Amino acid sequence: MDHEDASSDALGEQRDSEGRAERESVRRAERDAMERALELAALGPVPDPNPRVGCVLIDERGRVVGQGHHHGAGTPHAEIEALRSLARPASGLTAVVTLEPCNHTGRTGPCSQALIEAGISRVVIGQDDPNPQAAGGGVALEEAGIQVVRGVLRDRAAALNQDWDFAVRHGRPKVVWKYAATLDGRSAAADGTSRWITSSLARAQVHRERARCGALVIGTGTALADDPRLTVRGIDIPHQPLRVVVGHRELPSSMQVFSDEAPTLQLREHDPAAVLAELDRRGIRRVWLEGGPTLAGAFWRAGLIDEVVAHLTPKLLGSGAPALGDAGVSTIGEAHRLVIDEVSMLGPDLCVRAHPDPGTRPDPGTRLDPGTRLDPQCGAQGRGSHE
Ligand SMILES: NC(=O)c1ccc[n+]([C@@H]2O[C@H](COP(=O)([O-])OP(=O)(O)OC[C@H]3O[C@@H](n4cnc5c(N)ncnc54)[C@H](OP(=O)(O)O)[C@@H]3O)[C@@H](O)[C@H]2O)c1
Ligand SMILES: [Zn+2]
Repeated sequence: MDHEDASSDALGEQRDSEGRAERESVRRAERDAMERALELAALGPVPDPNPRVGCVLIDERGRVVGQGHHHGAGTPHAEIEALRSLARPASGLTAVVTLEPCNHTGRTGPCSQALIEAGISRVVIGQDDPNPQAAGGGVALEEAGIQVVRGVLRDRAAALNQDWDFAVRHGRPKVVWKYAATLDGRSAAADGTSRWITSSLARAQVHRERARCGALVIGTGTALADDPRLTVRGIDIPHQPLRVVVGHRELPSSMQVFSDEAPTLQLREHDPAAVLAELDRRGIRRVWLEGGPTLAGAFWRAGLIDEVVAHLTPKLLGSGAPALGDAGVSTIGEAHRLVIDEVSMLGPDLCVRAHPDPGTRPDPGTRLDPGTRLDPQCGAQGRGSHE
């Protein structure tokens, strides 16, 4: 190797290492910007029909020159707010966004188009658009010659919008069934009384949980028996969840559930899937199903419960309504199996959080044969088949 070759090799190595250092510093700046975008996204409202999204615009030296977040349905998307915050032209900037920019024209135009028109040269994405039908804006950006980087702090970005993500993937809101029962599984005494079955600590937790939901759902039976207010109390929230009463019976307009504290919808309907379709249409992503046993049973039969919150109180009744009515189970092999996620004490009461064991869960509209237990390891594609 002669002298000239050696010095050009050394120059090449120096350039390589400078290139690596530069790429590393760009990556670091983009990660920092994503951290900031996640913080901004978290300022968005929950519950809301839309996901929480944050966007930070950085220049070629990694300096933040613009930022924005989504303030909820009907307001500009994070990318648009960030572009509007700029004191300089957007051309050549990098947009760091917690969720893949949208590609559809909803109440606002597609953000992918706005970023293209603004002259953004690079887009860094946290979570990909989970919508199985419509691809997000990443491809549109790439087709317009914009560099797209995906998956930066993806898990944290996805964690911001678990209910929205679920609803987009399943085409319906997530359903959380909450019930309160005595240790012998009764939800009401023989005379129908059941109010304050659990302690004030358990009830305070109910209000915190209700506050995360877009709708609070009961059947006409519970409305008539308990005349509940069905509101969030003791917590500062921008607006009350939608109150939903399911069933055909005429209810007196004087009932508390029709007060002007919150909007109320009566769905004269017995099909849980139709109830959820209507709530989905209204942009509801998380449903708090609070009873009673008949309606809860119908949701179990339809395979439409995703989480369970049980408040168990150390009392015994020996008679009275069960916590759960007809859930489509006539023999032990058909039992709905749960996986327990968390057990905690709420004062004197026990709180159990669980979810249906995915291996034993029937698809909505299908029933397992008595005695069949699907292998939870099989996953979705192995359901019911054992080849
Ligand atoms: N401890 C707890 O956690 C808890 C929670 C809630 C209620 N409760 C207690 O539960 C009792 C009320 O029980 P419940 O079972 O009558 O209440 P429910 O489940 O709230 O209401 C039952 C009614 O919902 C309607 N409905 C809607 N979808 C249905 C379907 N798929 N199949 C059948 N009916 C359907 C029917 O009314 P229509 O005839 O009007 O259609 C039915 O009579 C009360 O004593 C209450 O205090 C306890
Ligand atoms: Zn958008």
